[in-house]
Amino acid sequence: MRTLSDQLRERIGADAVLTAPADIAPYLTDHRGLYHGRACAVVLPRAVEQVSQVLALCNERRIGVVPHGGNTSYCGGATPDESGRQIVLALARLDRIRAVDAAGFTLVAEAGCVLQTVQRAADDAERLFPLSLGSEGSCQIGGNLATNAGGTQVLRYGMMRDLVLGLEVVLADGRVLSSLTPLRKDNTGYDVKSLFLGSEGTLGVITAASLKLYPKIRSVATAFAAVADVQAAVDLLGELRERGADLVSSFELLPRIAVDLTTRHIPGVADPLGGSHTWYVLCELSSSRAEEPLAETLETALAAALERGKVLDAALAKSERDREAFWRLRESVPEAQRRDGASLKHDISVPVARLPEFVRQGSEWVRDHVPDGRLVAYGHVGDGNLHFNLNQAPGADPAAFLARAETVMRAIHDLVQAFGGSFSAEHGIGRLKVAELERYASAVELDLMRAIKRALDPNGILNPGKVLRAPGPRDRTPGTRDHAPGTRDRTPGTRDRSPEPRDEETS
Ligand code: MLT
Ligand code: ZN
Repeated sequence: MRTLSDQLRERIGADAVLTAPADIAPYLTDHRGLYHGRACAVVLPRAVEQVSQVLALCNERRIGVVPHGGNTSYCGGATPDESGRQIVLALARLDRIRAVDAAGFTLVAEAGCVLQTVQRAADDAERLFPLSLGSEGSCQIGGNLATNAGGTQVLRYGMMRDLVLGLEVVLADGRVLSSLTPLRKDNTGYDVKSLFLGSEGTLGVITAASLKLYPKIRSVATAFAAVADVQAAVDLLGELRERGADLVSSFELLPRIAVDLTTRHIPGVADPLGGSHTWYVLCELSSSRAEEPLAETLETALAAALERGKVLDAALAKSERDREAFWRLRESVPEAQRRDGASLKHDISVPVARLPEFVRQGSEWVRDHVPDGRLVAYGHVGDGNLHFNLNQAPGADPAAFLARAETVMRAIHDLVQAFGGSFSAEHGIGRLKVAELERYASAVELDLMRAIKRALDPNGILNPGKVLRAPGPRDRTPGTRDHAPGTRDRTPGTRDRSPEPRDEETS
């Protein structure tokens, strides 16, 4: 029997199938370095028909397929397991903007388009595509769709899901769901596309999307302010939204340590304010009207808050350069954390009004239980989404610090649960949080998710072991339940079960 790679080459061309260790190495490790997988091939199709052929073949041969975009997942969602029996399906060559309809405020982009390319295509047409993330220069729109990405403008424009009108998706058996509608109103039965958004490649491979555009931004006002505490930040957000109607587009919270880490580790980042304060916010108002008095609105709100002692100091961006400097500080926090040493990440959300109390209780817990760690809690307060991260304390042993990951995560996620929040606000589940989903999702939700997975991917070839645990032989009968919640936590580096190829396949 011909090997899988031979068959793949026959179908989509030799240059689209990589097997040499040096060629495939970049696709086998996630960007946090948590997972190091193996793969029998990396395929780089150029068209949806080729994706379809790859999936049809893999479905027939029961080969696991791991879709791969910009490799910026925080949860190992795009990394194959260690079996060497999966292929990586990289979408980078599907990188065309198929259409821009300025009059209809829509754009059709292929999955491999880098987010920044989509933003620029919209901008060239005097429109705005509002999804904005620190990794926008490398993450791909297919990954943004598959993970329902969030970012820094969710407050105003919603998450990726809210920006989608239609999708083109290749199903597990190779059939293509072609639904790139530009329609904003279309109540024709179930909203099938919704299933694929946020499914992390476990239900189908998104190859293109019809996206919503907005009026281009023509005025903007940005401030970096020190606030008395988290409650003051939440109050300021409420006040700004009242005064500025729906013009607040970003509202980010940063602790002092984020300023310290970025100014220390990221060249060119400077503290916009003097003195040392406990909490800061980076807030931005924006409008498509060039003459909107945004700076005035922002200044008045900040001055009033200063008078009440809620804001302690503030700097308004006087130029695009200032604005970029504020954002550079904010967007460099993950990289600064990485350069500072080992870190534990918790991408949580709670109702905005409950954030202050959550931060108080969570900080107390960290202080009392993790003496070798320092809290770096920052994020998108406007959405109730905090990256409640911890970094190893200076001089701490990274291995000993990381060994606490399970305990720390359990305590923080249990607290989040008690606050009615989510343990995965915007980063998804990937491989990292499969056990967390089993623990915190209700039995009904899990049953539905498993039923949907079985219906769309009966052979379990799509991104096996991501979001839902890959069923083992004894779990394969439809209707049988998987393991009890939390009973089989897997830590990075341990082995997943994945569909096995029918013949020996390594090349
Ligand atoms: C961010 O908002 O910077 C990210 O989503 C990353 C993080 O968890 O650090
Ligand atoms: Zn974030």
